[in-house]
Amino acid sequence: MTQKNCRVVVLISGEGSNLQTLIDESAQGTLPVSIEAVISNRPDAGGLKRAQRANIPTHIIDHTEFSDRYSFDIQIIDAILKYNPDLVILAGYMRIMTPDLVNRFSGRMINIHPSLLPKYPGLKTHQRALENGDSEHGSTVHFVTEVLDGGPVIAQSKLNITNDDNETTLIQKIKRLEHKLYPHVIQWFADNRLALRDNQTYFDGEKLQHPIIIE
Ligand code: GRF
Repeated sequence: MTQKNCRVVVLISGEGSNLQTLIDESAQGTLPVSIEAVISNRPDAGGLKRAQRANIPTHIIDHTEFSDRYSFDIQIIDAILKYNPDLVILAGYMRIMTPDLVNRFSGRMINIHPSLLPKYPGLKTHQRALENGDSEHGSTVHFVTEVLDGGPVIAQSKLNITNDDNETTLIQKIKRLEHKLYPHVIQWFADNRLALRDNQTYFDGEKLQHPIIIE
């Protein structure tokens, strides 16, 4: 994959600031990816407009129109498969996924989660870090497995929480970190430096003992 662009499909549910970073870096040629499609489970996701502005095909698969997760995820799988991606990137995708979906793309689906996993899987991560009086907070990129926010970690970025911080400031600061962190990891994947084997992350052929820290 080093000589050609890594084909990616991005799944979103919201604003899409991480998606925008990928669009920009791909357009500038600083990240060797071609974003083949953006799929949203929410018709009002701001990221859809970002994709449309960049002439990237978009799909809305509205989860509220499905009676269960399985039939919804079958549509998601079909939509992804149309584009034959090397990598599926979750960028603020807010649905719990079925094992069928996760296992279909095992080793080639990654997520970015706004906490220093294994701390704070799930929602309200910034609020929980503040309520617990944590001195640091951050974001994690990990391979997606059946365990919600529990797949093998790849890399993290951290920041110190200051006395002035509140949920809003932390969300903004964490997103700024993410816009550097996610492209780093995607570049490694495109360069064939990352792999998932036996539920472990491998980097350059070595089992990763700790998350890689991106400053
Ligand atoms: C990010 O903070 C990401 O960690 C989390 O959802 C947020 C998405 O933000 N999974 P955006 O839609 O990319 O702006």
